[in-house]
Amino acid sequence: MFVLFLQKISDLDILQYQSDFLTYLSSQKLIKEPKNLYEPIDYILQLGGKRIRPVLTLIASDIFSGDYKKALPAALAVEVFHNFTLVHDDIMDDAPLRRGHETVHEKWDINTGILSGDAMLILAYQYFENYSPLVFQKLAQLFSKTALEVCDGQQLDVDFETRNDVTIDEYIKMITLKTSVLVAAALKMGAIVAEADEEQAQHLYNYGLNLGIAFQLQDDYLDTFGDPETFGKQVGGDIIENKKTFLYLKSLEVANDEDKEQLYTLYNKKQKNNSEKIAAVSTIFAKNNIPNYTHELIEYYTNKSFESLTHLNIDAASKEGLRMFGENLMSRKV
Ligand code: IPE
Ligand code: IPE
Ligand code: MG
Ligand code: MG
Ligand code: MG
Repeated sequence: MFVLFLQKISDLDILQYQSDFLTYLSSQKLIKEPKNLYEPIDYILQLGGKRIRPVLTLIASDIFSGDYKKALPAALAVEVFHNFTLVHDDIMDDAPLRRGHETVHEKWDINTGILSGDAMLILAYQYFENYSPLVFQKLAQLFSKTALEVCDGQQLDVDFETRNDVTIDEYIKMITLKTSVLVAAALKMGAIVAEADEEQAQHLYNYGLNLGIAFQLQDDYLDTFGDPETFGKQVGGDIIENKKTFLYLKSLEVANDEDKEQLYTLYNKKQKNNSEKIAAVSTIFAKNNIPNYTHELIEYYTNKSFESLTHLNIDAASKEGLRMFGENLMSRKV
């Protein structure tokens, strides 16, 4: 289990949020007929994960209203949506492993992954029916906008696999869309449920947006340099798929001509041997100090996220809690 969630951060009791979320998740009767549609949904949701997004929804709601349990359906909507994106993402990325277990399309098949994923997207929306018409409308509006942005980001991610002119700016835009907007929306949804002031909700959204960029940079770092024993996903998956991550793009900026040429070749020819490709690319990344550059950028976006906290009219302990949450994310290993 992710160490961040085993502690109390300032006055935010992360463990309590997580445990209330899991109790609420377990109370849902997810498995129905036809079993081949619903069992994969239950499987992926019970596989665990860090539960960062639903915890953020509960934190936001708690900070603004103190009554965070009201935000449980919204938190579950976010987590179900996130898990839907993972099921489809694993098909798109041809990923064999998720949270240390077989991905849904490996355990069942691709068609099952597609349809169970579609059902999860709809299930996510259904949780908003727990709210009054005005809150429902605000949640649905934010959610629809966010979900489309995630699709935009996922399409760019795939388009970039076969492009050789991707810039670091384009990469940041792409990860903002595929990852950050959901982290940001998770927070804003908690603020909406708590009926917080719109401007305040937006500052919290901006905090999440920059934190989400740092989060995806760390994900990309771990994809190459994570510990295969604990990471839970296939290490080197991004390299196999020719993902134009910051690690790759920064290498093209700082490496010598020989390394650049080798990277270019490795990412443009069909490889017979994936482990040789992963070893060669990781060596070039490491030699060119890419882990350091990546950590610097993660710190940059994490600190940028903290600027939004200064605009929040909340108590100092809650601000400190949000700051610590960001600090902790930077050192995650999964
Ligand atoms: C994985 O998200 C997908 C990304 C946006 C990087 P998480 O790292 O939050 O995955 P889980 O839910 O903890 O497994
Ligand atoms: C995932 O990006 C973003 C979404 C799922 C929308 P990745 O493809 O890097 O996520 P992982 O590494 O498979 O979890
Ligand atoms: Mg993936
Ligand atoms: Mg992907
Ligand atoms: Mg990844």
